[in-house]
Amino acid sequence: MAQTWTPDSWRNKPIQQVPDYPDQAVLKATEDRLATFPPLVFAGEARRLKSALASVANGDSFLLQGGDCAESFAEHGADNIRDFFRAFLQMAVVLTFGAQLPVVKVGRIAGQFAKPRSSNIEKQGDVELPSYRGDIINGIEFTPEARIPSPERQIMAYRQSAATLNLLRAFAMGGYANLENVHQWMLGFVKDSPQAERYRKLADRISETMEFMRAIGITSENNHSLRETDFFTSHEALLLGYEQALTRVDSTSGDWYATSGHMIWIGDRTRQPDHAHVEFCRGIKNPIGLKCGPSMTADGLIELIDILNPANEAGRLTLICRFGHDKVADNLPRLIRAVEKEGRKVVWSCDPMHGNTITLNGYKTRPFERVLSEVESFFQIHRSEGTHPGGVHFEMTGKNVTECTGGARALTGDDLADRYHTHCDPRLNADQALELAFLLAERMKEAHDEKRMVVNG
Ligand code: PEP
Ligand code: CO
Repeated sequence: MAQTWTPDSWRNKPIQQVPDYPDQAVLKATEDRLATFPPLVFAGEARRLKSALASVANGDSFLLQGGDCAESFAEHGADNIRDFFRAFLQMAVVLTFGAQLPVVKVGRIAGQFAKPRSSNIEKQGDVELPSYRGDIINGIEFTPEARIPSPERQIMAYRQSAATLNLLRAFAMGGYANLENVHQWMLGFVKDSPQAERYRKLADRISETMEFMRAIGITSENNHSLRETDFFTSHEALLLGYEQALTRVDSTSGDWYATSGHMIWIGDRTRQPDHAHVEFCRGIKNPIGLKCGPSMTADGLIELIDILNPANEAGRLTLICRFGHDKVADNLPRLIRAVEKEGRKVVWSCDPMHGNTITLNGYKTRPFERVLSEVESFFQIHRSEGTHPGGVHFEMTGKNVTECTGGARALTGDDLADRYHTHCDPRLNADQALELAFLLAERMKEAHDEKRMVVNG
């Protein structure tokens, strides 16, 4: 029998990736203060996301998850949030058309601040300092003072998350996310793209569909689903003291929910079944994600599913696979087969970012072709296994940064220095992210049309 879970039962387990706070009393006082603050999200919203994800697990919807690798205090402006949301909604429309399924929209935003690191130490020249662990923990500047973890940063992250969420809710419900707007933005992107010819075909089909809907009287004035959208937040639940402080009992169900975001996930470095991060996540009722890298074994995965989703509830668990373009074919089929054999209900999502990072001219980057290639393999593998390729997970921004190479504008290693702004991993810029959505939608649409032809003889 599983041991009793409490919001702090993780504290009795071994734990990885813990910041070295110099003053534990200040840390404790800060966590106590956070525990008195209002929740950022409501349990009912998390339940709504869970049921949307259940539809993904059943093959009836598609998941789009994306945003910054790490949000930063320095880049907390309305423009950044708006530009991200705008790029993200365009991707969602294109993917909706490609998949011919509702798209569940989940941002890596309004809480994505804590970063796991491969090394505790960063070395520049002869100087060694503690690694940067995300703005919620310490500062990115390479000075001894900035790198000291400061609890006050948790309060700042909470307040930034609240403000970001407030704007996102206004965008989603206040008219900005109107499908007709998104359609016009998308046409603007296509017109300016070096690949305009290629994308126009799909864009024209979307335009025709919109005209048809208008013709039969379905408009954003009379239909709220064209005027508004559901948008959810997510982040890695890495800093457990912060997460615990925002874990609350839902008065309706009596269950515990993380109220720091709608969905939280467990990173590839902190998914040991007997350790703290898995312990924390097993007790909260939110939908949760689990990163699966090449070291995940089939047995290890089933063991984790037993712990994290013992009731085999669809929508509870999303497996975010991040193998690398050259490793996905060796790793994904064995995990799919194990899950199928055991009859476990999961969402399969593809993170084509974290297994495809290389260093070029001293910059961490990701070649667009490899990102695309991993998602394409993910789709192909699911097709041959007869399972649903449920979704995609991207690190992206709405800004015109130069962090990943390739894409229609063929960014090279020499371009990386121009606008390399990320606080952690390289992100797709707005054009690259949208391009990827177009290329994937094209593939999904082909598969769909093929199936229709077979059905119709
Ligand atoms: C991330 O999503 O930013 C991340 C660190 O991923 P992973 O745990 O898969 O390495
Ligand atoms: Co990352």
